[in-house]
Amino acid sequence: MRILVVGGGGREHALLWTLRREDPTAEFFSAPGNPGTASIGTNLPIAADDLAGLAQAVGHSDIDLTIIGPEAPLAGGLADRLRAEGRAVFGPAAAAAQLEASKAFSKEVMRRADVPTADARTFSSVDPALAHIRTHPEPLVVKASGLAAGKGVIVCETRADAMHAVQSILTDRRFGDAGSQVLVERFLEGEETSILAVTDGEDVVLLPPSQDHKRKDEGDTGPNTGGMGAYSPVSIVTPELLARVREEILAPTLLEMRRAGARFTGILYAGLMIDTAGNPWVVEFNCRFGDPEAQVVLPLLRGGLTECLAGVARGQPPTPIPARSDAASVTTVLAARGYPERPEKGAEIVIPDDLHPDVIVFHAGTKRDEAGTLRVSGGRVLNVTAVASDVDEAGRLSREAAERITFDGKHYRRDIGWREAERIAQAR
Ligand code: AMP
Ligand code: GLY
Repeated sequence: MRILVVGGGGREHALLWTLRREDPTAEFFSAPGNPGTASIGTNLPIAADDLAGLAQAVGHSDIDLTIIGPEAPLAGGLADRLRAEGRAVFGPAAAAAQLEASKAFSKEVMRRADVPTADARTFSSVDPALAHIRTHPEPLVVKASGLAAGKGVIVCETRADAMHAVQSILTDRRFGDAGSQVLVERFLEGEETSILAVTDGEDVVLLPPSQDHKRKDEGDTGPNTGGMGAYSPVSIVTPELLARVREEILAPTLLEMRRAGARFTGILYAGLMIDTAGNPWVVEFNCRFGDPEAQVVLPLLRGGLTECLAGVARGQPPTPIPARSDAASVTTVLAARGYPERPEKGAEIVIPDDLHPDVIVFHAGTKRDEAGTLRVSGGRVLNVTAVASDVDEAGRLSREAAERITFDGKHYRRDIGWREAERIAQAR
């Protein structure tokens, strides 16, 4: 089997690592990949958004299965293009990827499917948006509708802040064309969790629940980022809650997508808010594996991922993907100085070769210079994942390794998994 993973971040390294663990005899490719994926297979020097280049490479290298990591090529129609050429590809068609690429579309699907989510209204001009905000309770949330690399959401304490946010998105085009429409949305209170469901558009197989840490600094303070760390599983996500997520959220959404003629296949990622009464609300849908959620969820699997993804790519229902029930994982993101605004690149990275055996270092923003030295090349540099008996212990191992890896400007949160650690301490 010849497998291509499109993308070059920590998520893609984690995917390749997991697939190779399941089938060491397969041949692996990534595009463009990174120095971590280079240790697993062949890095093809093709950008993840170069659709023509990727389609050509799939033919050239006679790839049996293509797995698309990031949202941009999905929204751009890479899956459609490869399918049209008769290739097995895991990831939704562009029309279905709108569930992530257009928050306006996503809200409309949820409204029609009667899925619990924050009330929202969509605007493409400023005055009606401001008039709506004048009567909206505080706090409130303003979102650019399109893809904005996780930065298009502004949580506003006051109506005045929300008015500024709308103007910065619609008038100043702070997020470019991603902000040609804005959503003004009710603020949801509770605890967030990420549910990743593999689906053929009808059946779903759930991966272990995880929790991302989106804020840059400890105690969940500072600006929003792409994610500073994650852990899995999340104990507030009980089997009963998962059953409700299936019935009240995933099934009606998938049904509505089929009705709309945009059958969704691939990973349906439900970003949920669990309110104080234990009810799940959708914050957002994504059309792919989470990053850094994949880096904690995938190492907990006991096999079956390759078979499941390959089957779905060929149009079959998802097959079971058993996960360890005796283990938990934590990933700590090592970020570059200046992340998320202006990450500084170029520093030399040193990874000790005697890290704890239950620690896996996934590469995200790294590259090798001509002399072979590993250097910082992006905002999120490395993801240090540890697997242990519980989140407390996995967090300890992850932080210990994070401390020992060095590069100038290294910044990371030492509290990944803190909510779960508090629950563990309370239970003791
Ligand atoms: P999104 O890109 O829509 O997931 O939003 C990014 C982050 O903003 C989410 O993970 C939440 O932390 C926060 N957020 C988005 N929408 C809401 C909402 N309606 N209420 C509270 N927090 C929100
Ligand atoms: N970690 C959030 C995301 O992948 O969108």
